[in-house]
Amino acid sequence: MTTITDALRRLPKVELHCHVEGTMRPSTVVELATRNGIALPTDDPTQLYRYTSLDTFLDIFWLVQSVLGDGDDWARLAYESVIDGAEHGLAYRETFFTPARHLDAGQRLGDIVAGLAEGLVAAEDATGVRVMLIADIDRAYGPGPGRELVEQLVELRRSGAPGTDRVLGVGMDSTELGVDPTDFASAFDLAGRSGLRRTSHQGEVTPPDTIRAGIDVLGCERIDHGLSLLDDAELTKRFADERIPLTVCPNSNIRIANAFPRLEEHPYPQMRDAGLLATLNTDDPAMTDLDLTYEYHSVMEAFDYTWDDMVAIALEGVEGSWLDPDDARALKERITAEGDRLRPVVDVEG
Ligand code: HPA
Ligand code: ZN
Repeated sequence: MTTITDALRRLPKVELHCHVEGTMRPSTVVELATRNGIALPTDDPTQLYRYTSLDTFLDIFWLVQSVLGDGDDWARLAYESVIDGAEHGLAYRETFFTPARHLDAGQRLGDIVAGLAEGLVAAEDATGVRVMLIADIDRAYGPGPGRELVEQLVELRRSGAPGTDRVLGVGMDSTELGVDPTDFASAFDLAGRSGLRRTSHQGEVTPPDTIRAGIDVLGCERIDHGLSLLDDAELTKRFADERIPLTVCPNSNIRIANAFPRLEEHPYPQMRDAGLLATLNTDDPAMTDLDLTYEYHSVMEAFDYTWDDMVAIALEGVEGSWLDPDDARALKERITAEGDRLRPVVDVEG
């Protein structure tokens, strides 16, 4: 491992766009599928992860989700996801889980959240990495189940059900094509009125008006992907002026959405040059053979960023997060101190 790669691995990092199901180790996919009687098209996981677009990726994502049979499986998934993230300097993550498929199959939201929280507590004890949860609506299931998910979540929180204090907010993912985000206004309205934070995948493969709907109609405080934002100059200026965070996943945009042939063609630097708060994230690391070290290192190389640029990007992850102000300040201090400590190491190589 080169010195720069190692320094980037050690730099404490925040992740705001990571699907817990997309962190499932290939070996765990196969093991849980066998145990829960889910047929996989192949028992070689490297052959499983083949796709050419967001929608063909989602077919595999949904298959991987379907191997999660009960609360213990969710706990194991959550635990392993943090252990694997910690290897790459993860300090804090706000992670998505998308339970529509499991609720449809008869699992209970309370069991899912309790299982996830149990795994997170154990992993936090083992690593010191802190992880909070975002309950994602699956757009493919439509607005009715989306609203029901939020209703159930609000009720579980009201009754103090185990693990629900870890759920900071709601989001929305899955297919974008042919779906009008404003159909989900009622679900997001209830979430907002109930004190839940709001975010949503928008503009990964759709035009910027879906991003505008995300903030103006759904009340989102940040937008996941937001890849098409630069196509709208006025909306870009608004995001920059108001520092509305984007959770950008450059390598995922290449490997999942097939939006660009090479990382060098990704508009990440144009986003930053436009003054956008463009945080850096992996999306579905285990399903795309990614990790945070690679995400940071590949972006640094592709766009000729300096060490200080990369530290600034890590700090922007804190700015875009939903940490309370004291915790955010402490994490910023930690990142700055580590950035200073590691700079000479990088300078030797650079
Ligand atoms: N987009 C939409 N839905 C998803 C994604 C994504 O990148 N990853 C997992 N579910
Ligand atoms: Zn995503």
